[in-house]
Amino acid sequence: MILTVTMNPSVDISYSVQDFKLDDVNRMEKARKTAGGKGLNVARVIKQLGEDVLATGVLGGTIGDYITQELMKSEIKNDFFRINQESRNCIAILHDGKQTEILESGPTLSEEEGEAFLEKYRGQLSEASIVTISGSLPKGLESGFYRQMVEMGQEKGIPVIVDTSGESLKQVLFYKVKPFAIKPNINELFQLFDMKWNMNVSNLKQLLTIELFHGIEWIVVSLGGDGAFVKHGNNFYRVTIPSIDVVNPVGSGDATVAGLAVALDKQQTVKDVLKTAMTTGMLNTMETETGFINLEKFDSLFDLVKVTKVD
Ligand SMILES: Nc1ncnc2c1ncn2[C@@H]1O[C@H](COP(=O)(O)OP(=O)(O)OP(=O)(O)O)[C@@H](O)[C@H]1O
Ligand SMILES: [Mg+2]
Repeated sequence: MILTVTMNPSVDISYSVQDFKLDDVNRMEKARKTAGGKGLNVARVIKQLGEDVLATGVLGGTIGDYITQELMKSEIKNDFFRINQESRNCIAILHDGKQTEILESGPTLSEEEGEAFLEKYRGQLSEASIVTISGSLPKGLESGFYRQMVEMGQEKGIPVIVDTSGESLKQVLFYKVKPFAIKPNINELFQLFDMKWNMNVSNLKQLLTIELFHGIEWIVVSLGGDGAFVKHGNNFYRVTIPSIDVVNPVGSGDATVAGLAVALDKQQTVKDVLKTAMTTGMLNTMETETGFINLEKFDSLFDLVKVTKVD
């Protein structure tokens, strides 16, 4: 069973309005509400791939109830740690060809709540074969929180894939126990070093060779429409993808993590792991809905992904 972790899920509300007026009343004719959060996208894609998945994390209040109901509707097994505070709403207003976002930061967790979640997670690990951790941490939890989750996984011999950014990613990397896999996009990778690099294969190879990355089995640097650059053990790969009709790229990194988790869990070959991860990412970009893939197109796209070893 694949365990997906979302520590700060949300209900994502999207409003479409022709002409958005500031300092005035805006009436929304169309409102779409979905259970959001990167780890939930991962869970959705894993479910569509037909694999056994359990969604966990932290939620609360009526917004938390809504998230659970949405997961139930999609028949995704879930077992979240419940808190008394409300989970958050994230609002996107689509207007005049633009998108204005209003993001709540969500609840603030106490140290005790953090500990209690970890206890739940410890129990869930005994049924998991692989874990994905996605997105940001809620307020109140120290930025090293994911380190503990990686370490607990390692103690039980369960691979943990981490897809986060900024300080949480830094904390995970600057620790003696390394995650099994990370999937930064190129910007998240460069942000770590606070510098602008010229993105080419030789620079990427040099960067991923530094000691900070030692011990991470898989580093998948996703490059949007350009595919990925990957380090696996001591080998490097450039993965290229076909050009496709992109409808909505949001969440394609999450779909990539889902493909990666499923392929690793099935112990596919290195080439197939990378082809699966790129294919699920691409499939997500071809749909309006985030975290949704059309499996009928899987095989034809899979065949067009090229994995080349870089010397
Ligand atoms: N424009 C695109 N055309 C084709 N494939 C894409 C495109 N954008 C993304 N993908 C696919 O999805 C994968 C992940 O995309 P990307 O690098 O944008 O992740 P990300 O920035 O982490 O996304 P997010 O955080 O929004 O989920 C890519 O490696 C590729 O396979
Ligand atoms: Mg991402």
